[in-house]
Amino acid sequence: LGAGPLAGRRVLVTSGPTHEPIDPVRYIANRSSGAQGAAVARALAELGAEVVFVTGPAEVPPPLGVQVVRVETAQQMLEAVQAALPVEAAVFAAAVADWRVAQASDRKLKKSRDGLPVLEFAENPDILKTVARMEEGRPALVVGFAAETDDVIAHARAKRERKGCDWIVANDVSPETGIMGGDENAVVLITEEGVEEWPRMGKEEVARWLAARIAAALGA
Ligand code: C5P
Repeated sequence: LGAGPLAGRRVLVTSGPTHEPIDPVRYIANRSSGAQGAAVARALAELGAEVVFVTGPAEVPPPLGVQVVRVETAQQMLEAVQAALPVEAAVFAAAVADWRVAQASDRKLKKSRDGLPVLEFAENPDILKTVARMEEGRPALVVGFAAETDDVIAHARAKRERKGCDWIVANDVSPETGIMGGDENAVVLITEEGVEEWPRMGKEEVARWLAARIAAALGA
């Protein structure tokens, strides 16, 4: 068994984008690299936690020393998360697609045969909200992320209430910050007690701060 304040404590991290199929060869995706989620999982593992890392098809490789569960779609991610429970803390860093194609085709759509496709969408499950609002077996600490472009604190507070999670790690992704796709992050941590503005730092460092706060919250 590993050493460290979180030794023997089981935690979950979701990360990366999801891919939502249109047909067997096409999908809808987003630009999440998975960097922040991987960094959080690594930082928790470095504190000794037993980390289940549920990841969509991310650009960055998963960290060493975590249990990797690879998924593609939001629905698969929800199932993998539910299968990983119980955990003491769950951090939802994935950029889950809000919508999936309602009727993905089981054969490749053909230009010649099918004409211009019209895609109808269905809403994906909100994984963070589902876990945060569990009546039984809810993790002691549920952490969500929020990327906002304006009124960061007000929107993040509202999101914390709406989702039912304990903390929101909010960042300002307005274009002038250069954060989206960059290596740095400027984070505001929203808890029940209030709002903490963290200094601008690298994503790895944000992850270490967050992991240390999680260890403290779990009494580790
Ligand atoms: O509502 P919004 O997508 O801004 O919320 C972001 C937070 O919710 C992130 O923590 C993200 O991982 C989580 N989320 C989720 N499932 C969804 C949508 C978002 O877990 N379907």
